[in-house]
Amino acid sequence: MGQGGGDYKKWLTWPKDYPEEILNIIGLLKTNLEYQKALGIRHIQLTQQTMQSFKDTLSEAHSIQLEDVRKELGDCRRCKLHATRKNIVFGAGNQRANIVFVGEAPGRDEDIQGKPFVGQAGKLLNLMLEAINLRREEVYICNIVKCRPPGNRNPQKDEIEACGPFLTRQLEAIKPRIICALGTLATQTFLKTEESISKLRGVIHTYHGIRLIPTYHPAFLLRNPYKKREAWEDMQLIQKEYEKIRGK
Ligand code: URA
Repeated sequence: MGQGGGDYKKWLTWPKDYPEEILNIIGLLKTNLEYQKALGIRHIQLTQQTMQSFKDTLSEAHSIQLEDVRKELGDCRRCKLHATRKNIVFGAGNQRANIVFVGEAPGRDEDIQGKPFVGQAGKLLNLMLEAINLRREEVYICNIVKCRPPGNRNPQKDEIEACGPFLTRQLEAIKPRIICALGTLATQTFLKTEESISKLRGVIHTYHGIRLIPTYHPAFLLRNPYKKREAWEDMQLIQKEYEKIRGK
């Protein structure tokens, strides 16, 4: 670094807003190196594994945490849905999930319990997950809009826009490898299209580098059970991709 003659100190400065965790890690590393120097150790050898775990620790400390996103959302009043909701339904499941399922908006049961997909549609979603050997605790489940629209009407554009940054940050925190968009609204919102779900499902799309697999919404499947056959194909596609990323 310094041997090239350039003044590395000019650019080797820490940003002022560096997270405290990272500063702590750097501090510990410095102390450790000074200790080794005092023992007379002049060279250290880092294995690939050590380097990787160091990188992982740094990136974890630097990354957005889901609980920070929840705190930022607070007692949200950014759109009119706050006036009629009972509870904000932020999301539930594994914060490190490789796969995230995204629905439309909470319904009556979800609004009462503050949890996503706990009503009839949720029961069907559980069966769909079980069919491909996934448990709810293994995945993360949330919605495009976090408050129940009155009478379960469709969420409106301004409501989707108000909630959008929080969904984005949830996904940034979880860093899933696969997103399953449940139903028309979720799929159209991610893909910024008005194409119908029947045309969009059945293939793998990409959303910010993440595989996006659309399928029918479980509530739609309850009303149109003959569509379950196609939904089953989509679930099998999810299973195949999930196994790929887990190296099976
Ligand atoms: N429908 C959704 O889209 N989300 C829920 O959480 C429940 C029903």
